[in-house]
Amino acid sequence: MRVKFKIRRHDPAAGGKRKSYVQAYDIEAAEGMSVLEGLLKIGDQLDPSLAFRKSCRSAICGSCAMTINGFSKLACNTQILPQIKKHGEIVIEPLKNHTVYKDLVVDFSSFWGKLNKVTPYLTPPEESPTEEVRITKEDAEAVDDSQKCIMCGCCNGSCNALEIDDNYIAPAALAKSWRFVGDVREGNSTRRLDKLSTEHGMWTCVRCVHCTQYCPKGVKPLEAIEKLRDRAVEAGITDNHGAKHVTSMLDSIKRVGILDEAAMTFKTLGFVRSLGMIPFGFKMQMHGKMPRPLLFPAIDGIDEVRKICKEREKEKAKERLKREKKK
Ligand code: SF4
Ligand code: SF4
Ligand code: FES
Repeated sequence: MRVKFKIRRHDPAAGGKRKSYVQAYDIEAAEGMSVLEGLLKIGDQLDPSLAFRKSCRSAICGSCAMTINGFSKLACNTQILPQIKKHGEIVIEPLKNHTVYKDLVVDFSSFWGKLNKVTPYLTPPEESPTEEVRITKEDAEAVDDSQKCIMCGCCNGSCNALEIDDNYIAPAALAKSWRFVGDVREGNSTRRLDKLSTEHGMWTCVRCVHCTQYCPKGVKPLEAIEKLRDRAVEAGITDNHGAKHVTSMLDSIKRVGILDEAAMTFKTLGFVRSLGMIPFGFKMQMHGKMPRPLLFPAIDGIDEVRKICKEREKEKAKERLKREKKK
């Protein structure tokens, strides 16, 4: 079957329109052929000047991440024909949120820089354990997903928070952080959580779920971020807007059973900054997002909601105790 590849070419050295333009190629594609095989065919038979990265061709090395029909994907494990069936063509652009060197080759230095910032290795406690630390199956499973990362950058390439904040530590490094914070042998979890709770840290995530959705290895970075946040609040690292926001959300649920946006804003931002949110509050009310701006009476069935909260708190206390016993 003849298929069309439309590729965003970049030539930073060229001027004018040649700097960034779309070039189309028609190739013959067979059942089971990957987008990477299509690119190799173009490079071999039609245009050897096309630049892209690849190595393993088996979704292992993480080199071939790019934007395929709008989504961050590995070219080697994305098949052509299902994409054609869905989109009618193959549109390929470089991985988003990265500076382009040439065509589909992007600069990964910010990716590695962010990863280095989170100390990507186990650090021992100040006092070394006197006995061997045994890892149970359950301990290993707690960090198992985050160990599957192949550093492809699909998560960072699809991250909405990174798109607006270049300095955001971003999902790949946060998933890596959980790899160590969640490890029973790690000696500096609280210090790590403290660092991740500062500006551009884990609370910058807007929970769009893209990182988890587009990760080709099932690392689930968003779930890792949620666990990091949970541990930070549990460790009392709450002097930041993100932690204040979630604790005020929980307070509101326990108090009235629904989100009391007005009270949450004051608790999160403090009195003075909340005043600046009043026009936004009016807009929310006009769009039916905050039907009762001042009065939030408890809902019917609030006792049930409180019971659920209490049960969950008991479970969490048990989990914490279990973890502490291992330390
Ligand atoms: S869930 Fe958070 S970290 Fe993941 S892509 Fe969205 S904003 Fe980025
Ligand atoms: S978390 Fe997933 S998407 Fe992100 S770099 Fe690792 S393997 Fe790639
Ligand atoms: S070529 Fe290695 S992951 Fe695609």
